Amino acid sequence: MKPSLLDDPAATGTLDAAGMLGTIARSPGFATWVLATHAASDGKGTLAMIASHVAGMTIKGVFIVGMGGSAISGDLLADWLRPVLPVPLLVFRDYDLPPWIDRTWLGIFLSYSGNTEETLSTYIDAKERGIPGICITAGGALGRFAAATGDPRVEVPGGLQPRAALLYLFPTLAITFSGLGLVDGPAMAGELRGCIPLLEDTCKRYGPDVPAATNPAKQLAMKLHGTVAAIYGFGQYTSVARRFKGQINENGKNPAYFDVLSELNHNETVGWENDDGVTGHVSCIMIRDPDHESPAIATRAGFTRQLVEKKAASIIELQPTGTSRLARMLSLVLLADYASTYLAILNGKDPTPVEYIQGLKDELGRKVNMLQALEQRLSVIAGKVND
Ligand code: F6R
Repeated sequence: MKPSLLDDPAATGTLDAAGMLGTIARSPGFATWVLATHAASDGKGTLAMIASHVAGMTIKGVFIVGMGGSAISGDLLADWLRPVLPVPLLVFRDYDLPPWIDRTWLGIFLSYSGNTEETLSTYIDAKERGIPGICITAGGALGRFAAATGDPRVEVPGGLQPRAALLYLFPTLAITFSGLGLVDGPAMAGELRGCIPLLEDTCKRYGPDVPAATNPAKQLAMKLHGTVAAIYGFGQYTSVARRFKGQINENGKNPAYFDVLSELNHNETVGWENDDGVTGHVSCIMIRDPDHESPAIATRAGFTRQLVEKKAASIIELQPTGTSRLARMLSLVLLADYASTYLAILNGKDPTPVEYIQGLKDELGRKVNMLQALEQRLSVIAGKVND
C-alpha cells in the first residue's frame, strides 16, 4: 500500500483544525456522562421529572422532531427499539405536524443548537394543539420555549457540531424515552451501558495513530475518495445507512446517498444497468450482518452485490461488531464518523465546519425571520399556560 496522507499527523492536524478526530475519540465518554447524569432512578432526576410530566396520560404514540444531526438520534432509537415498541414511534422532519397527531401523542423535540427553525415551528404547532412535549437541547430558543410552556427540558453540554454530539443526544433521547414507561427502561440503560467498552475499543482501532495498512476506517475513506458514495442498509441498519450518508456529506464534504433492502431491489438496482460510465463514479457500501439477516435479505444482498460489482468504482461490505442490537448499530456509526472525517482530509477539507448549512440558516434569518413570528405565537401559548 502507498504511504497515505492519512498517516501524516502534521497534514491531518492542519486540515482537521477544529479537532473532529479528537471529538470522535472522546465521544464514548459522552454516553458515560449521559448515563451518570440522566439515568439515575432516585426519584429526583430526569427520569422522575419525565414520569411526573406524563403521569395519568395514556400515550398512544410518540413522535420525535428534529433535523439533520439531531433527528438521526430518533431514527436510531426507532430502529433499535422496533421489536419491543408497544406504540408507534415516528420521526418528523418538517415545519409542522400531520393533522392526525393529537393530545394522545407525546412529542420529543430535539435540537442540539436549540435554534433550528423547523423544530421550533413544529414545537409551537404542537403546543397550540395542547400536545405534551419534552425538549432535549444544549440551549438556544428551544430551551427558552420549554421554559415558557413549562415542558421538561433535558440538557446536554454544548459547544460541538450537532452531528458530533450524537453520543450525547442519542443516549439522552434513549433515557428520556425510557422515562415514559413504555419499554423496560433499566434494560435499555443496561444495553446502552454495555456498548461503551465496544465503542472505546472501536475508537482505538480506527483512530489516527493506526496506520492505513491496518486501519479499516482509513481504508474505507481511501476507497470512497473521488466517488459518490451509495450506502445500502436494511432493517435496523436503515438509520445507520442514513447516518453514514449524512456524515459523508457533512464531515467528508462529499456527495452520498443511501437506500435500503428490500425496497432498493424495486428501483435502485435497475439504475445499475446503465452502461454510459455513470456507475463507475459510484462506490457502493453494503451493510451486511450475516447472523441477523433473514434468508430473503441475504439472497437479495448477494444478488445485488453481483450486479453492482460489475459496474461500481468499488464495492465495500461492512459488518458490525458487538453482540447487542444497539452495539452492532453503533459500531458502524463510529466507523462512519471516522471514515467520513478521513475522507474530508483526502478531499482537502476541514471536517468540522458546515458553511453551506450555516450560510442558508443565516440567509433564512435575514429574509424570513421565522423566529420573531414564533416568539409571538409562544407568548399567546405562555399566556394561556400562566392563566
Ligand atoms: C451540523 C449538523 C446539522 C444540524 C442541523 C440541525 O453539525 O449536524 O445536520 O444537526 O442543521 O441543527 P440542530 O441539530 O442544532 O437542530
